[in-house]
Amino acid sequence: MTSQLFTPVQIGNRKLSHRITVAPMCQYSSVDGSMSDWHLMHLGSLAISGASMLVMEATGVTPAGRITPYCPGLYSDANEAAMKRVADYVRSISPIVLGVQLAHAGRKASSHRPWQGHGPLQANEGAWQTLAPSAVPLADGWPAPHAMSKADMQQLTQAFVQATQRAARIGLDFIELHSTHGYLLSEFLSPLSNRRDDEYGGSLENRTRLIREMIEDTKDAVGGSCGVAVRLAVDELHGPGGITSHGEGRDALALLAELPDLWDVNVGGSLGNDSRSARFSEEGFQEEHVAFVKSLTSKPVVSVGRFTSPDRMVSQIRRGIQDFIGAARPSIADPFLPQKIMEGREDEIRECIGCNICRASNNEGIQIRCTQNPTMGEEWRKGWHPEIIPPRHARESVLVVGAGPAGLEATLALARRGYEVTLAEASEAAGGRLLHESRLPGLATWIRVRDHRLHMIGKLANASVFLNSPMAAQDVLDFGAPHVVLATGSHWRRDGIGVVGEIALSLDGALTPDDLYAGRPVSGPVVIYDDEHYAIASALAEKLRRQGHDVHLVTTLPVVSSWTAMTDEQSFIQSRLLGLDVAITPSHMLGGLRADVAQFDCAYTGRRKEVPCGTLVLVTGRLPNAALHQDMLPHAGALATLRAIGDCHAPGLIADAVYSGHRLARELGEDAASLVLRRERPAPRQSP
Ligand SMILES: Cc1cc2nc3c(=O)[nH]c(=O)nc-3n(C[C@H](O)[C@H](O)[C@H](O)COP(=O)(O)O)c2cc1C
Ligand code: SF4
Repeated sequence: MTSQLFTPVQIGNRKLSHRITVAPMCQYSSVDGSMSDWHLMHLGSLAISGASMLVMEATGVTPAGRITPYCPGLYSDANEAAMKRVADYVRSISPIVLGVQLAHAGRKASSHRPWQGHGPLQANEGAWQTLAPSAVPLADGWPAPHAMSKADMQQLTQAFVQATQRAARIGLDFIELHSTHGYLLSEFLSPLSNRRDDEYGGSLENRTRLIREMIEDTKDAVGGSCGVAVRLAVDELHGPGGITSHGEGRDALALLAELPDLWDVNVGGSLGNDSRSARFSEEGFQEEHVAFVKSLTSKPVVSVGRFTSPDRMVSQIRRGIQDFIGAARPSIADPFLPQKIMEGREDEIRECIGCNICRASNNEGIQIRCTQNPTMGEEWRKGWHPEIIPPRHARESVLVVGAGPAGLEATLALARRGYEVTLAEASEAAGGRLLHESRLPGLATWIRVRDHRLHMIGKLANASVFLNSPMAAQDVLDFGAPHVVLATGSHWRRDGIGVVGEIALSLDGALTPDDLYAGRPVSGPVVIYDDEHYAIASALAEKLRRQGHDVHLVTTLPVVSSWTAMTDEQSFIQSRLLGLDVAITPSHMLGGLRADVAQFDCAYTGRRKEVPCGTLVLVTGRLPNAALHQDMLPHAGALATLRAIGDCHAPGLIADAVYSGHRLARELGEDAASLVLRRERPAPRQSP
């Protein structure tokens, strides 16, 4: 069945050996536009994944065209040398077809790294003048860009040509012109941002003129030694006034159909539209927008859509939706996805769950993290390989207590190191919090975190899982393993203390998510109090509303689920709840609970508000299930290892729990001196 994925396809004069490729992904880790050791390890890892093609991240053709000061560029000899070093390394380890995405960020340039809060740089932060087809700011609070003159456009085309020549000199197989996500070339295309009245504005033909010239000039400049691809947003998802796939997106593609060597098509407008989470999109969700493309061009077409299932990939190709598959997040979750499919090891794929924690770690300012792949972002810093883990030094046994995300990951990774591992779970099913959270609307894919690990543990003779096996301290001691790892999870607080609320309240009768998971009934108007700000409050609100309850969500912050702005989900969540008629009260703190009203105080005025309430659900802080750890501490001296991991150590994201389990497994029995990590973080020295 998957054999169709492993047929060659031609791009210009390059042949791709098969149909699974890696889409471009910003790393925000360059120094003065030059790629760093980070790229060597990150791209090196993706290059040996078995993918047939890899597109390196958005790369500025001028210093001012970079999205942030930390993005790579290809405008100087130093940038060229740095990229050549990465490309040479990739070449030395892999036959992958290698390209770079050339970009100008237009009015979205001069912005903070996502993890520093998006938004424009200020003058004292090295802000620079941005360019755009017209002087229309991106949004409130953004500076007006400079409306490009013809001379500016000639210079820009020249910059793209020179960067393409540099790419060809480096020996890259192709360049990709970036015309999506609202950056400069897509700004020219969109009537929302292009208000010009010269031959580059007005009619669609005029608005496509610049990209047409770019394609022609870059092709002329390299004469076939390097292919020219275009990444085009065929739908901005900005409504009928913008580019739509049944309107001007289709017409633009028809106008340019045979010009590039490859079409890379997606939905644009913003990255949040394109990298949509599983809660708001199915695998392959872009099909409805990109399906027309192949009918208008004879050139190869690639697209994206969180593809993890080989069957879905084959179906895309068989039905002529695209010629090959682009994978961004699926390549993060499992860099060896193509190789596993190729070798018939589909069951071993760590499927992306679409949680967008990878996007959040970008936005939050930490090294990239992935819920499914704890090694992501640690290739260079800690030398962690996604598939290879060093063997243990001694033949010893480990008891892991608790089969949630941390316990499962620890068990799998320890067993892969060669330890004899026993995993004891008190309840009748493995999964811990995943069991419950994956039953909330839109979060079903989260159970893959459990399923993958259980499946892989099942293949290992030196790991055993025992359900219905509650362990008290004496049971643990009687078991006799020298290493004991506690992964007993956490529970939701009942006293109203959360991210903002610091004062414990007496809230008799209020429920927590744990109560709802256990089947406690709700009655009357349901008030959900969110002082956690991630996914659970809104998902519970959605679930209860769909069951027919009147639901009122009160949050301590100004918007619903505010932290999900990091996962690019916040606006989708707020829209969904409003669409379901969930009442929303922002910026209110819980003050108390009386018979049939919950009391809240405005964060700004202190004014008290009484909300009719049959059931109050507290989605606030969580506390570690630490009882077993406490009971074990007096016996720690009798054990070689006693460690609490995951939520029972520090409640956090599922990604944190998985990471914690993996880290424990990597570090067990290792000399502390060998665990020192690299801390360098590139800092830019110049702004444009
Ligand atoms: C961390 C991250 C960085 C990204 N950076 C870029 C980029 O530099 N250029 C680009 O065109 N798209 C970028 N994207 C979008 C992806 O290339 C891709 O279009 C999108 O994630 C949808 O594909 P997927 O469903 O396979 O993840 C990025 C996505 C992620 C998750
Ligand atoms: S963090 Fe989540 S969305 Fe991102 S790659 Fe990993 S599993 Fe997929």
